[in-house]
Amino acid sequence: MSSANQVVAKTWATRWTFILAATGSAVGLGNIWKFPYMTGANGGGAFVLTYLICIALVGIPIMVAETTLGRHGRHSPIVSMLRLAKENKASRAWGLIGVVGVLTGFLILSFYSVIAGWSLSYTIDAATGVFPSLQGEAAGEHFGALIGDWKKLTIFHTGIMVVTGYIIAKGIHDGLEKSVRFLMPALFILLLALLAYSAFTTGYFLEGLKFLFTVDFDKITSEAILAGMGHAFFTLSLGMGAIMAYGAYMPEDANIGSTVVTVAILDTLVALVAGMALFPIVFANGMEPSAGPGLMFISLPAAFGQIAGGEIFGFLFFLLVAMAALSSTISLVEPAVSWMIERFDVSRPVATFIFCFAVWLLGMATVFSFNIWSDVMIFGNNILDALDKLTANILLPGGGMAIALFAGWVMKREVIRQELSHMSDTQFNGWLWLVRIVSPAAVFAIFLNSILG
Ligand code: PHE
Ligand code: NA
Repeated sequence: MSSANQVVAKTWATRWTFILAATGSAVGLGNIWKFPYMTGANGGGAFVLTYLICIALVGIPIMVAETTLGRHGRHSPIVSMLRLAKENKASRAWGLIGVVGVLTGFLILSFYSVIAGWSLSYTIDAATGVFPSLQGEAAGEHFGALIGDWKKLTIFHTGIMVVTGYIIAKGIHDGLEKSVRFLMPALFILLLALLAYSAFTTGYFLEGLKFLFTVDFDKITSEAILAGMGHAFFTLSLGMGAIMAYGAYMPEDANIGSTVVTVAILDTLVALVAGMALFPIVFANGMEPSAGPGLMFISLPAAFGQIAGGEIFGFLFFLLVAMAALSSTISLVEPAVSWMIERFDVSRPVATFIFCFAVWLLGMATVFSFNIWSDVMIFGNNILDALDKLTANILLPGGGMAIALFAGWVMKREVIRQELSHMSDTQFNGWLWLVRIVSPAAVFAIFLNSILG
């Protein structure tokens, strides 16, 4: 376990490093690609409302729990959970949180990488001046041509996995911190610029706001609620060990509560700004909000094509989205690779290669799902939707619920209190109540509701 002990010794200098790493993990395709199309497909405000409630009552408390378990365990998620179970004389079965988390990261990354590849492809489109010609029908056709071309998709998917593997194999932290420090603000500024464009030139800004923030109560279906909850977990990178793995590097005296709240607010802000910027463009171009995973890729080129300097703007935008996706892909790999290093004593590059190659292979199923395997259905979903629903709606909330129960009921109360020493008694008791009862009950109720409903 020598490499494991090195991990313990290398705690990051300040809580800022955790904020940067966790924000890098959280902010990604989930905010810019997935949040808008999920909102569009699940009734607008109805989805946004459940998502926001879940962030506050389920996501943030569980994120505190996950970070705390990571910091107290100080190892990869699987080993941390086994140690914590032992320390608390609980069953080794709690180690399944880590094991299922590794599997979940594997499944998510397989399609996440393909979508990040779309962004890369659009970077090149922007640079080669394709956008001005993508008005009206042409934008949809262009997107259709991309996803219909499995060779092209394979090239970009491979590119994303190679870069991810390279960063992981080298041992990530310095580079990650620097890039996130620069990347996130840059991405946010571009989103604000896009928001300004939507507000001042599309003429559909109010329609966009109305779609996002007025709740049509007929649209709060069990399906929309499940999707909203699942997205809260997905967007905060919660329930699969990514946050636990980063928590392991957090200094002993850092304030977990305020740190986690900061990350959650940043993530939510990026999603809301992305939504407010995108929907006016969607409406102005006569698109259906429920167009699905292609939503941003079909609507944005039209906007970039109309803006002066749209080539550069569009190029930077899609590049930054791809880079934001990379800081998320890294966190999807880290729990698995750090575990393989601890458990099998393999080198970091070897562990990385094995895991990333397996992910790449599964990713080909998503690549083919848009073309030669487009008829393949799993419980009525195409391969992308099936993987997405299995992970976001079942595995992440399930993992998060187990994390909440472990932190709330299994961990010794004095130990948890010590870890969260920055909280007042009222804050601590409120948090404890949330992770013991409210958040697990909410997840359970939403599961049940969607099975019965
Ligand atoms: N939170 C990331 C996003 O919103 C996706 C992710 C999910 C990353 C789970 C890590 C773990 O894009
Ligand atoms: Na996110």
